[in-house]
Amino acid sequence: MSREQGQKIDLSPTAALVLSLSKELFEKNPLTREYLKKIDLSSGRELVEAYRNAGLEELTRQGQCNRKFAIRELILEFVSQNPSAWQVVILASGFSPLGLEIVENTSGKVGKLFEVDTSPSDAKKALYHHLLPSSREKVAFIEMDIRSPALLNELTKYSYSDSLSTIVVMEGITHYLPLGDIRAILNPFHHRDHGNRAIIEYGLPYDKLSDTAAAASKTLFEIIEKRYFPQGTYKYTSDDFRQLFQEMAGDLVRHLPMCDLERWQTGKNRVFSNPESSLVEIVVGSL
Ligand SMILES: C[S@@+](CC[C@H](N)C(=O)[O-])C[C@H]1O[C@@H](n2cnc3c(N)ncnc32)[C@H](O)[C@@H]1O
Repeated sequence: MSREQGQKIDLSPTAALVLSLSKELFEKNPLTREYLKKIDLSSGRELVEAYRNAGLEELTRQGQCNRKFAIRELILEFVSQNPSAWQVVILASGFSPLGLEIVENTSGKVGKLFEVDTSPSDAKKALYHHLLPSSREKVAFIEMDIRSPALLNELTKYSYSDSLSTIVVMEGITHYLPLGDIRAILNPFHHRDHGNRAIIEYGLPYDKLSDTAAAASKTLFEIIEKRYFPQGTYKYTSDDFRQLFQEMAGDLVRHLPMCDLERWQTGKNRVFSNPESSLVEIVVGSL
């Protein structure tokens, strides 16, 4: 399976779906374009087709690109505000090349990234090292359930330090976690003095959306639920997270509906016109 032999990395259907939908964004950058070339996205075809047949491919492509662009920019803002002492913890990192983008954009700056996922990470790690050798020193790959109470201990073994300003990322994962689990996962990262932050992406309850967006969201989530999560995905509002951050002595510092993310990435609102069209959105909180 070495890349020298030209073989591509196989992904699960959902991981391939996410990368297929965000291809347009990653193909703009030579490094992530090379990353994508080494990955076999064919297992995601059936899901992309299901979105296409439901007339929702454009909406999901735009939504994925907006969210991935914004999360990268939010992390880079955090790094530039804490230039000498930062670390990024990407929870349920999957096959997203977010860590690679952060290393590329912070060359010459001290700092550390941790990618945590239950899935095996050897192939991703080898690909990072091959494409960007400086990622060897900067990125630690940890195969672990993010709900484990031993998470912080494990991170510490990989040189995580609670004296550094830390940003924790939860993208593409809150859909599968109840609020109690999210609280328990974030709680160990609370540090009043260091201005720690969490970036959280989540899906909105259908009754918070316009009729058109609610129908689209229901169809989109049902495509995934029917195949992989029959118990139903979890939905949240920014108020849920405001309360969660306040319980940890922090607060909500930014709320970004999808229409704001689209304007940020593209300079206009073409697909998402108002907060009721969001489907998914992002909050940033202090921990
Ligand atoms: C939809 S993918 C999202 C990947 C990436 N964060 C993104 O948004 O592109 C979900 C990922 O969560 C991982 N995952 C699910 N439950 C997990 C858990 N309890 N602990 C660690 N990883 C988990 C899966 O292995 C998968 O890689």
